[in-house]
Amino acid sequence: MSAVKMDGKALSAKVRGGILAETEELKKRGVTPGLAVIIVGNDPASEIYVRNKEKACAECGFYSEKYALPAETTQEELLGLIAELNQSPQVNGILCQMPVPKHIDEQAVIDAIAPEKDVDAFHPVNVGKIMVGNFDFVPCTPAGVMELLAEYGIDPKGKECVVVGRSNIVGKPMAMLLLHKHGTVTVCHSRTEDLAGVCRRADILVAAVGKAAFVTPDMVKDGATVIDVGMNRNAEGKVCGDVDPAVMDKAAYMTPVPGGVGPMTITMLMKNTLKAAKVQHGL
Ligand code: GUN
Repeated sequence: MSAVKMDGKALSAKVRGGILAETEELKKRGVTPGLAVIIVGNDPASEIYVRNKEKACAECGFYSEKYALPAETTQEELLGLIAELNQSPQVNGILCQMPVPKHIDEQAVIDAIAPEKDVDAFHPVNVGKIMVGNFDFVPCTPAGVMELLAEYGIDPKGKECVVVGRSNIVGKPMAMLLLHKHGTVTVCHSRTEDLAGVCRRADILVAAVGKAAFVTPDMVKDGATVIDVGMNRNAEGKVCGDVDPAVMDKAAYMTPVPGGVGPMTITMLMKNTLKAAKVQHGL
């Protein structure tokens, strides 16, 4: 038996349709959601992400600004731009694409974004709100995973949920969202002993490792739901996930790469931007 493919592209299109409809209503009341995207340097993967974010803004009827800054940009210059955007009434959301060049302190950039415009939900204020369970912005990748689970009727309540990877962007907030939905959550990482054994316990397995084909069939329980957050390139330059495609024969549900979590992540960014616009206008 082959797993049901969880179609993030189709769900994204549906959610973006809803966002566009809501945006049109907001525009009638004089509010256009606006997103500013900053990219520093010319990392090819980041350039693709940023282009996709601009496209998504257009699809949702948003106003957008893009700042492509040279790799030599100083931290002071970048923080100066963020300070201006924090004050800009057209801009409801600000996103600085990570990673930034090494001479810039990533945390200083995150801390500089006004929490009410932090549509990535990376600022410590928003991270804290997520931990407590009272938040406006949901971190985009984990939020996309939760929407996919809901769409396919997979309820984490009482289930063994294993997250592989403990990054601030994916692993940690993913664990919190699953916990809020009453999952029994384990976070694994490179130092975990018997990683395969822990993964085999999972009813819902989320792979956010950043290594091609890291999760192999022997690490997966029959009938599990396997969520692949990976975006890697194999030796031939082809985009592939963290999960070996052979896992399709063991899992009951699985997200493809590309076309699974990726499109959902950007759609959740749009959802956060819409939310930011509404909150900032008291709607
Ligand atoms: N780099 C990789 N993922 C992300 C993300 O979700 N937001 C930002 N700002 N940078 C990223």
